[in-house]
Amino acid sequence: MSKRIIITGGAGFIGSHVVRLFVNKYPDYTIINLDALTYAGNLENLRDIENKPNYRFAKVNILDVKAVEDLFDQYQVTDVIHLAAESHVDRSIVSPLDFVYTNVIGTVNLLNTAKQKWAADLSNHRFYHVSTDEVYGSLGTEGLFTEETAYDPRSPYSASKASSDHFVRAYHETYHLPVVITNCSNNYGPFHFPEKLIPLFINNILQGKPLPVYGDGLYTRDWLYVKDHALAIDLVFHKGLNGETYNIGGFNEWKNIDLVKLLCQQMDEKLGKPAGTSEQLITYIKDRPGHDRRYAIDATKINRELGWKPTVTFQEGLSETIDWFLANTEWLNNVTSGNYQHYYESMYSNK
Ligand code: NAD
Ligand code: DAU
Repeated sequence: MSKRIIITGGAGFIGSHVVRLFVNKYPDYTIINLDALTYAGNLENLRDIENKPNYRFAKVNILDVKAVEDLFDQYQVTDVIHLAAESHVDRSIVSPLDFVYTNVIGTVNLLNTAKQKWAADLSNHRFYHVSTDEVYGSLGTEGLFTEETAYDPRSPYSASKASSDHFVRAYHETYHLPVVITNCSNNYGPFHFPEKLIPLFINNILQGKPLPVYGDGLYTRDWLYVKDHALAIDLVFHKGLNGETYNIGGFNEWKNIDLVKLLCQQMDEKLGKPAGTSEQLITYIKDRPGHDRRYAIDATKINRELGWKPTVTFQEGLSETIDWFLANTEWLNNVTSGNYQHYYESMYSNK
């Protein structure tokens, strides 16, 4: 049967890769990109597919229940892939309530709408919730997060994502809503908003600005190329089992300072600068409050049960990412100058 899927947060970093993959791969599906276009939403991310016949865009906030319900009715929506969120840990430390509204209440609004609209027959529907490894808290030097690891969120961002995960599971247990959840590690790649480590540092190297490394720089993250995450979402959406959780990760741990040095090295090579030039920009600064020391995902379950594994090595992915940013300085300049926020008006004001 042809599906009509709402993808929330489709104008954001990961969402835009998921929308592109689904629009191109499934011409029989109707893909409805539901996005409020906050500072993190950028329709320029989807320029290459925006005129495809199976793509729709709706500027809707998931806090607006009526607008979400209307969209379900308009398209007789069969499935939801939910990525819309406030996603930046540092912003959550400054404005926790924004994270509660969008990540918790916004998610519950979507769950309620799906439950109500699909009540007549819950089969052939799916509510896919995209979550993060940060819900599991912080690891010491040993061990990995599995699907059984107890939740232990430590930042307002991860607390809000953990809460949304609990609501998704509660709707499955209580109302039998067909849900699936994935918890993924740190993504990187094209269209990454330059407030996050890798794109921020690429931009700062291009501008000759300092590279602000938090604390001792020995914090560890598990990095996954965003297109591999999108492929995993495609697989879990079609083959995952209702009520299940799947961890997704890169099998690719890096201490921040080692990653930053590799990035500096690749940037110097690509920009034709003497080795060591960009490293001189590294500046250690005050730590992030409550900074989680280490994340690392055990992605054995999704590999064993669904056959997923990353296809891109970190060296390749990082190199491709840098090449993309170097080839798309206009995108980067539009984002850093704020011009991207006018794209919606210019593209959609007459539609
Ligand atoms: P992002 O910040 O780049 O994009 C978020 C998108 O959601 C934007 O387009 C924004 O406009 C939209 N949005 C925000 N609030 C909204 C609201 N109230 N109503 C409608 N739309 C709204 O985020 P991302 O990095 O692409 O992350 C996407 C999802 O994946 C999030 O749920 C995040 O928690 C999760 N995740 C991210 C990572 C990562 O490394 N970036 C890793 C694991 C999981
Ligand atoms: O693990 C998945 C999570 O990864 C996602 O759920 C989040 O949405 C996503 O933002 C990301 O969170 P992090 O906090 O790990 O990502 P960020 O890029 O902000 O930081 C990565 C590491 O780099 C972290 O240890 C903090 C450090 N850092 C970050 C910035 C922005 C710096 O040292 N300096 C910086 O300027």
